[in-house]
Amino acid sequence: MRIDIISIFPDYFAPLELSLIGKARTAGLLEMQVHDLRSWTHDRHNTVDDTPYGGGPGMVMKPGPWGEALDEVVGERPARLIVPSPSGRPFRQADAERLAGEEHLVFGCGRYEGIDSRVAEEAARHMPVEEISIGDYVLNGGESATLVMVEAITRLLPGVLGNRESHVQDSFASGGMEHLVEGPVYTKPAEWRGHEVPPVLLSGNHGHVDRWRRDQALRKTARNRPDLVESAPEGTFDRRDLEV
Ligand code: ADE
Repeated sequence: MRIDIISIFPDYFAPLELSLIGKARTAGLLEMQVHDLRSWTHDRHNTVDDTPYGGGPGMVMKPGPWGEALDEVVGERPARLIVPSPSGRPFRQADAERLAGEEHLVFGCGRYEGIDSRVAEEAARHMPVEEISIGDYVLNGGESATLVMVEAITRLLPGVLGNRESHVQDSFASGGMEHLVEGPVYTKPAEWRGHEVPPVLLSGNHGHVDRWRRDQALRKTARNRPDLVESAPEGTFDRRDLEV
């Protein structure tokens, strides 16, 4: 997979050199480049914003630099443009799974009151464009949202987590956890400060362990995420699961 990120704060993406994503880049599993939007400005002050038409507070990102940046970064290669925005569609694990199957993702990080809407309109003539929100709160720009999405997507790429770890038991993972959060986890010692690990986990009976984990996931979901219980298809939860 190739990921390009366009931002006026390229330094924001230094964490993508670290840990699993950094290793995946070094190993050639992931090709990633961060671009400074200001390199596509042509005035002395490298201006990227201007006052909004119609008035009101704040500034809007000018279309010119964005148009040139996208022309150059996307080129002739097929790509999908992601624009992080609090007004976008919500980002879910299913989106991370879907986007992990793409060849080329371009993230366009807006600042201020956002990017002139004609940029997405024009880009959509050449490639799929998605406006995506990572949650119902407002950040200072798309950079931290891009970090979140890139991490959620790239950890699903083959070879990034290593074979000891699997995604199928993750909260929200397709293949059984779609409407559930993961339950509690434990490691050694079996007793710590008077707290014991649930005996079923020491039993060696994988069938019992799987059933217990599912049950715990159901209970935790009911407790912490009533919205998921509400929206899950009929039969995902039974009444016993909801007695918390
Ligand atoms: N930019 C500002 N707030 C955002 C959010 N909640 N999600 C994605 N991008 C954003």
